[in-house]
Amino acid sequence: MNVLPMIHYPHDFQPKQGELYCERVPVQRIAEAVGTPVYVYSHKTLVGHYRKLHAAFRAVKPLVCFSVKANGNLAILRLLVRCGAGLDIVSGGELFKARRVGCPASRIVYASVGKTPEEIRESLRQGIFCFNVESAPELKAVDEVARRLKRRARVALRLNPDVDAHTHRHITTGVAESKFGIDIETATRLVREHQRYAGVEIIGVHLHIGSQITHAQPFVLAIQRAAAVMEAGRAAGLAMGWINLGGGLGIIYKDERPQTPADFARRVLPWLKRLKVRLILEPGRFIVGNAGVLVTRVLYVKQARRKQFAVVDAGMTELIRPALYDAYHGVVRVQGAVASRNGYGVYDVVGPVCESADVLARDRALGALAPGELLAVLGAGAYGSVMASNYNGRLRPAEVLVRGSRWAVIRKRETLRDLVRQDVIPGELLR
Ligand code: LLP
Repeated sequence: MNVLPMIHYPHDFQPKQGELYCERVPVQRIAEAVGTPVYVYSHKTLVGHYRKLHAAFRAVKPLVCFSVKANGNLAILRLLVRCGAGLDIVSGGELFKARRVGCPASRIVYASVGKTPEEIRESLRQGIFCFNVESAPELKAVDEVARRLKRRARVALRLNPDVDAHTHRHITTGVAESKFGIDIETATRLVREHQRYAGVEIIGVHLHIGSQITHAQPFVLAIQRAAAVMEAGRAAGLAMGWINLGGGLGIIYKDERPQTPADFARRVLPWLKRLKVRLILEPGRFIVGNAGVLVTRVLYVKQARRKQFAVVDAGMTELIRPALYDAYHGVVRVQGAVASRNGYGVYDVVGPVCESADVLARDRALGALAPGELLAVLGAGAYGSVMASNYNGRLRPAEVLVRGSRWAVIRKRETLRDLVRQDVIPGELLR
């Protein structure tokens, strides 16, 4: 068995002479220096994915807003903003981060079904490019805040086009039962009545139909449904010059064959030209998903009656996707492997958390593992660190960015002090 095959993912984590490298740095060297678990990211992969997507749509000068929710590390945000990316935010916290890394307000778009008046006010003050508005009452709220501030808020109506994106039910968002977006009928009414909202300028529509979508077809269907709203808006005197297609571009976790940016652009561009609109994209996973791995150390090899477990020092607290969505993540050894006998060397890779769902990977052929060995969980760049928690008193890991043969810590490992920093023991009350 070839335990360290060439990894056919479009990223820069590859084995050389039986050892896993991130770009030109041996992953083991990072683990020795900063400990485990640790997330490791490749600068080259991150920038490469951003550029590939931007280039595919060059003809329409797209605004590519990286979705902060996928990975909110300041160094990662800063490097993407430096490349020209904007940011897609969903909260006042993400607005704060966006401004911290120097993202021009004119490149920030804001979606979320529950924006508070304070968040709307602060975003308006900062002058963000656009609110993706998710309901009629929210449109009213934005209008009121804007008028009070004597500003005009740019708004795109987030449509719920009732399109099935054929992805996991927890990450599909564009079907009628979902809490997201405005149905086509209501949106049509809102653009017709746009003069009622003097504090608001409706500049176009927003769509985000789900995540990890591997084909262009659902996007095309959603655009076709959105076209009706664009037309109604224009008939009512609005320019409707923008369409935001959201994020959702799928990546390879296992054996998916996702569309390439070029394929995607080929399917979508004709529609944009026909509708005469500028484009915003909000990719998260596509840019950072395969640009990060979670490195973890084997603590014990445990033999059960029907199973063999590799108990590692990372779990659902560092990567919740397998537990939450039954998601598949590749696991590879960081150092060269010992050849294994038939049937031997197949493990469930499990974490130390007291939950049966704390399984990172099932039935993986990894060769004969020994305690102390390092494993890398692939595809952990998106929705990994951002969804990490302190459950079970666990400390959130360090994060490292590699660039060529250099690397740096971009988030320090939490300490025991961090774990209790916000707790208060009210002496009076407990006496
Ligand atoms: N735009 C909007 C409005 C979104 O809601 C999302 C993701 C994105 C963009 C970015 O989507 P992406 O390109 O990353 O697919 N935790 C889940 C994914 C939740 C996605 C939520 N919204 C997971 O780990 O699969």
